[in-house]
Amino acid sequence: MENIKLSINEGIALITLSRPKALNALNKFLLEDLHQVLKDLESQENVRVLILTGEGEKAFVAGADIKEFPSLSKEDATEMAAVGQERVFDKIHHYPKPIIAAVNGYALGGGLELALACHIRVGSQNAVLGLPEVTLGLLPGYGGTQRLPMLIGRGRALEMILTGDPIDAEKAEHWGILNSVGDNAIEEAEKIAKRLIKRYPSAQKAALQSVHSYYNEQGLKEEIKRFGQQFQTPDFNHGVDAFLNKRK
Ligand code: CAA
Repeated sequence: MENIKLSINEGIALITLSRPKALNALNKFLLEDLHQVLKDLESQENVRVLILTGEGEKAFVAGADIKEFPSLSKEDATEMAAVGQERVFDKIHHYPKPIIAAVNGYALGGGLELALACHIRVGSQNAVLGLPEVTLGLLPGYGGTQRLPMLIGRGRALEMILTGDPIDAEKAEHWGILNSVGDNAIEEAEKIAKRLIKRYPSAQKAALQSVHSYYNEQGLKEEIKRFGQQFQTPDFNHGVDAFLNKRK
């Protein structure tokens, strides 16, 4: 696959998102590749735990691909958020095997949302986490308005969502976004993965299904609708143009 590297070792699948020139930003091709890998690994009995990371030392994922945005109508953007959520983010959230995000640098916007959809997150010391969508005249569109408050509480989540300001690894661990932080995010994830594969998979599957049974689908629908509505507004045009032309 063009945008994904996969290795499987002793029951642990390492999925590396690989568009390093764009800091692994999520375009539709990468999301489709990720959907396909997740689908394939679901039925492979030799795979017990998945680790998701980004190529290179700089970024986990710097968000949805902003270069795709200017051409999208409100309807296209609503569709993009709905398809991405269904095929990737919700698939990860409801996955029957544990998925750990190894956050090795920037996890911004859709990148942090991808980590939030995973069941467990760990990070490297240079991890930077944030939801900067408001700086583009947008709101998170891949589940951030739902999963972040659920994880760290409404007040801290709203500080991140409404300011768009990122936080460092130490604060992310203190706030409970990252379970642990170490020199190397993948090694940190492997430590947990090796503990997970010692336990019964059927029990873990049942526990995952039980933990996720209360999930609020209504909130996600609201997010998708409002994400699409922000496209092509004056604030969106101004914010996206500033990023693409490297202005503040
Ligand atoms: N989409 C597309 N390209 C991106 C990108 C993104 N999200 N993030 C970085 N890139 C590209 C840059 O455009 C640049 O490409 P060029 O070399 O062709 O100019 C390359 O990656 C390297 O990035 P920078 O030169 O900007 O690197 P930096 O070290 O100066 O800054 C950064 C790093 C702070 C992460 C900065 O790239 C940045 O702010 N990126 C955007 C982060 C963001 O706003 N993410 C949210 C996207 S919206 C979203 O995700 C919506 C949703 O919820 C669905």
